[in-house]
Amino acid sequence: SVEKKILVIPGDGIGQEVTTWGQKVLTAIARNYHHTFTFDEALMGHVAIEATGSPLPDETLEKARQSDAILFGAIGHAKYDNDPTLKVRPEQGLLKIRKELGLYANLRPIKLFDELLEASSIKPEILQGADILFFRELTGDVYFGEKKRSEDRNTASDLMIYHRYEVARIAHKAFAAAQGRRKKLCSVDKANVLESSRLWREVVLEIAKEYPDVETEHMFIDNAAMQLIKDPKRFDVVLTANLFGDILTDEASQIAGSMGMLASASVGDAIGFYEPIHGSAHDIAGKGIANPLASILSAALMLDISFGLKEESSRVIKAVEATLRQGYRTMDIANKHTPNDFFLSTDQMGTKVLENLS
Ligand code: IPM
Ligand code: MN
Repeated sequence: SVEKKILVIPGDGIGQEVTTWGQKVLTAIARNYHHTFTFDEALMGHVAIEATGSPLPDETLEKARQSDAILFGAIGHAKYDNDPTLKVRPEQGLLKIRKELGLYANLRPIKLFDELLEASSIKPEILQGADILFFRELTGDVYFGEKKRSEDRNTASDLMIYHRYEVARIAHKAFAAAQGRRKKLCSVDKANVLESSRLWREVVLEIAKEYPDVETEHMFIDNAAMQLIKDPKRFDVVLTANLFGDILTDEASQIAGSMGMLASASVGDAIGFYEPIHGSAHDIAGKGIANPLASILSAALMLDISFGLKEESSRVIKAVEATLRQGYRTMDIANKHTPNDFFLSTDQMGTKVLENLS
C-alpha cells in the first residue's frame, strides 16, 4: 500500500462542485485498497484573487511543491471575460503553476464510452472506436512569449516562441506513449507559415528516427481540425503545441460526447497535476448540474500516472462505465430519451459512481 499527499485546488465556478467528487473517489479507493491519501486544500483563480489579491498565492504554490499530486477543478469568472482591461486575472494562476511546477506535457485522452455514442453531435459510425491521446505542450508557445501593447494602446502582440529542448522533451514523451499504443503519431503544426512550427517539425522529424517502430506523420493545424471530425479513428497519438492543442482538444471533446467527460494530466519534472479539460462554466455554476465525471476521471489518471496504481485506476473507470450503462446522465450527456429518473444532478451522479466503486 502507498502513502500520498494530494493537494486539492477546486478553483472557480463548477470547479468547486465537481472536484469534491474526484476527491471522494480517491478517498473511496484509499479505503478499498488500504492506501493512505492525505488531502490538503488551497486557493487559485478568482477565489484566490478575492481572498488574497493574487490568482496564485505563495501559500498555494508552496503546498503544491510539497504534494505528490494535485487535483484541480477549473478557473475563471465572467467578470474578467467582459473586462479585458483587468490586469490581475484568474487564468494567470493556472499558467503560473504550470510553469513553476514544470508541467510541460499535457495529456488529454479522448475516448468515447460506448454508452455515449448518441450524446455527440457527430454520427455514431464515424465515432465508434475513436481513441486518441493528445500531447499538448503546456509551458511554451504564444502563451508564455513576450506580450506587448504600444503606448497609444492601438497595437498588441504576443510572441509565439519555442526552444529546441521544449519540443524535444515532449516529443520523446509522445513517441514513448505511441509505442505503448497503436504506434502512430501525428505531429500537428503550421510549418507552412510559422518559423516556430518549422523548428517544431525539424525537431520531431529528428526524434522520429529514434522511434522507427512508430509511424509518424505531420499535419497542418487547419487540416488536422478538419480530419478530427471527418475521421477521428485515423488518429492515435497527436503531438502539438500549446495553443493548437488548446483548440484541438476542445474540438475533440465532441468525440467523447461532452467536455464534461474529459480528464487531463499535466506532467513534467516531478509532480502531476490533474484536471478536467472543461472550464469554470459560470453559466451553470451554482446550479448543481455540472458533470462530475471529468473530475472523477482526472482522479483515475492520477492513480495511474502519478501513483502507478493501474488496477485502482481502471476500477474507477469501470465504475464510471457502469454508471453510464445503468443509464444515468447529467444534463450535458442526456438527450430527449433520457427518462426523468435518470437525469441526475452533480451530487446524484457522484453518488452513483461511489456506489459502483464499492
Ligand atoms: C485549458 C484552459 C486554459 C488554457 C485557460 C483557462 C488558461 O482553456 O486548460 O485548456 O488555455 O490552457
Ligand atoms: Mn482550453
